[in-house]
Amino acid sequence: MIVITVGNEKGGVGKTTTATTIAAGLAARGYRTLLIDADAQGHATRALGLPKTPGLYNWLVRDADYHEVMIPVPPERYGGNEHTRLYVVGSNVETRNIASSISDAYAVADALEPLRDIIDVVIIDTSPTPSLLHGAIYLATDYMIYPTLCEYWSFDGLAESLTRQNSVRNVHEVKVLGIIPYRVRLQTLEHSENLNRLREQFGELVWEPIPDSIVWAEAAAFQIPVFIHAPDHSAAQIAWSLVDRVEALLEGVHDE
Ligand SMILES: Nc1ncnc2c1ncn2[C@@H]1O[C@H](COP(=O)(O)OP(=O)(O)O)[C@@H](O)[C@H]1O
Ligand SMILES: [Mg+2]
Repeated sequence: MIVITVGNEKGGVGKTTTATTIAAGLAARGYRTLLIDADAQGHATRALGLPKTPGLYNWLVRDADYHEVMIPVPPERYGGNEHTRLYVVGSNVETRNIASSISDAYAVADALEPLRDIIDVVIIDTSPTPSLLHGAIYLATDYMIYPTLCEYWSFDGLAESLTRQNSVRNVHEVKVLGIIPYRVRLQTLEHSENLNRLREQFGELVWEPIPDSIVWAEAAAFQIPVFIHAPDHSAAQIAWSLVDRVEALLEGVHDE
């Protein structure tokens, strides 16, 4: 089991899009996948057509069993079949209260432990505002993915997130899997210059930029992944390329 967390201390940069797209794509390819929605807005929960629920709160604070909080997503929604598994631990406003209700920094790691042999990959969507819940999530995380806009303040959020990630380094090492530039308009000077800056600073960690396109927002509104909503659109190919990146990691782990 590998735990991948999607973060950036800035809202509207593509966190939920990344988390839900990658989770849906991996599940469609046969990986037993768990998506944890750790943002009180519950957008990741809604993005896969499920109702907002206090799933994460019940799991971490009320000690509910994982069977009670892991909701299966109907396979037709993400292009799976009767053999594939995509579960969501849902979120709602109660997620805000988790940080003040857990005393154990390892609450998330402990909750995930019994899933080690039944789930291949856990994807965690986070909120932009840092909290003790984020700390507990980092302690359970193997890899981080950082979506960012090609704009100054998003880089600021990225820098803040990376600093905070480094601060837990002596207890638990989290690797950066990738930085994804979202909603990029390469024809604008600002975006292309910022993309260059990002590449100078982070090199190979910067994944293929994702152009601004309405199909992503439409897919979110229809509560399906973009590769189901617009399978022939270039956005669908990009979505699959994100899934490929994570799949390469999972296959590498299998080989070990
Ligand atoms: N490449 C894109 N082009 C246009 N809109 C996008 C793109 N990617 C995501 N969006 C939209 O941008 C908004 C913010 O994305 P979201 O993933 O919810 O960000 P976050 O979780 O970081 O707040 C959503 O409405 C989403 O559908
Ligand atoms: Mg979000």
